[in-house]
Amino acid sequence: MKESGTSLMMRVMGIESSCDECSAAVVQDGATLLGQTVASQIAVHAPYGGVVPELASRDHIRSIVSVVDDTLRQAGLSLSDIDGFGVTAGPGLIGSLLVGVQMAKSLAWCLKKPLVAVNHLHAHLHAIFLEREVAYPHLGLVVSGGHTSTFRVDGLGKIRPIGQTLDDAAGEAFDKVAKLLGLGYPGGVAIEKASQGGDCNAIRFPRPLPGRNPNFSFSGLKTAVAVWVRNNGLPGKEQIADFAASFQEAVVDSLVKKTITAARKERLRRIVVSGGVAANRRLRDKMLRHAGQYEIETHFPSISLCTDNAAMVATLASELLRAGRNDGLDLDANAGLGWHPA
Ligand code: KG4
Ligand code: ZN
Repeated sequence: MKESGTSLMMRVMGIESSCDECSAAVVQDGATLLGQTVASQIAVHAPYGGVVPELASRDHIRSIVSVVDDTLRQAGLSLSDIDGFGVTAGPGLIGSLLVGVQMAKSLAWCLKKPLVAVNHLHAHLHAIFLEREVAYPHLGLVVSGGHTSTFRVDGLGKIRPIGQTLDDAAGEAFDKVAKLLGLGYPGGVAIEKASQGGDCNAIRFPRPLPGRNPNFSFSGLKTAVAVWVRNNGLPGKEQIADFAASFQEAVVDSLVKKTITAARKERLRRIVVSGGVAANRRLRDKMLRHAGQYEIETHFPSISLCTDNAAMVATLASELLRAGRNDGLDLDANAGLGWHPA
């Protein structure tokens, strides 16, 4: 990473391809979204009940050029109007990441414009700034198909991990349980829908790692579901709502309790929640209510900004470029969770 002291970035294009969404967006002055395209791969992965890495990267290769073109068209701009590029360089699926990174590098090279690498989790944490300012410091929770992690966020790039899942991510647990129940993919959406009108106390599923342990764990919960199904058979039509609501409640309780405990321990008065699972209505309601009891504010971006999108990449890239970050054309992708831009 070089320090370039870049002046105010007017229009920044963000590119996101870390998992199964191929997305590009243009943001003006850091926070005004001029255009965005999100090409979902749900139909590609649905038959498998989860993301197949090889299929994901191949689909990104097919989509990325038209995703960039459609975004520019929506924004009423041409490539020469873009002042800088930001791209998710990790963590994520390596084959998928490489497609976005190579596209961003090619564009930056051809147009002689600055390029900045963005950490996917930091981009999720920054998505809220497209809608409102949230004062620092705050507690960030990123909860998606690949991640369940809490962070202390003290400012731009000042992000310290607090807790993370020791096994499955919360979204992964939703996806695997939905697959087991034959509810379809993505599992979180399917389980939330199936839970409508159900009794969330009908079945008591475990809430692992109780107490002050800052980490999360969902594999025991997944096993408890499998054991229940082995003993009782798949829940029938009359039972599915109770079953889905009870499972959802176990996930939500873990997320709410651990996040609020971490915020209180760090003496933080604000929580920001993002990632695909943050679209869950029960999580939104329960986090707001429980955090409110401790006078902690909770902020959720709109649902379209919770799931993977390039607007969150573009807004964070704008701030990083403005702060003088400028990565070279030797930029590489990094699949690992611990990856942090230099
Ligand atoms: O952030 P995201 O789009 O991609 C990753 O980075 O993983 O999150 C996708 C995950 C999937 O596991 C999906 O089942 C979950 O988010 N999800 C939900 C809901 N909508 C999506 N989980 C619970 N409730 C939802 N409404
Ligand atoms: Zn994500």
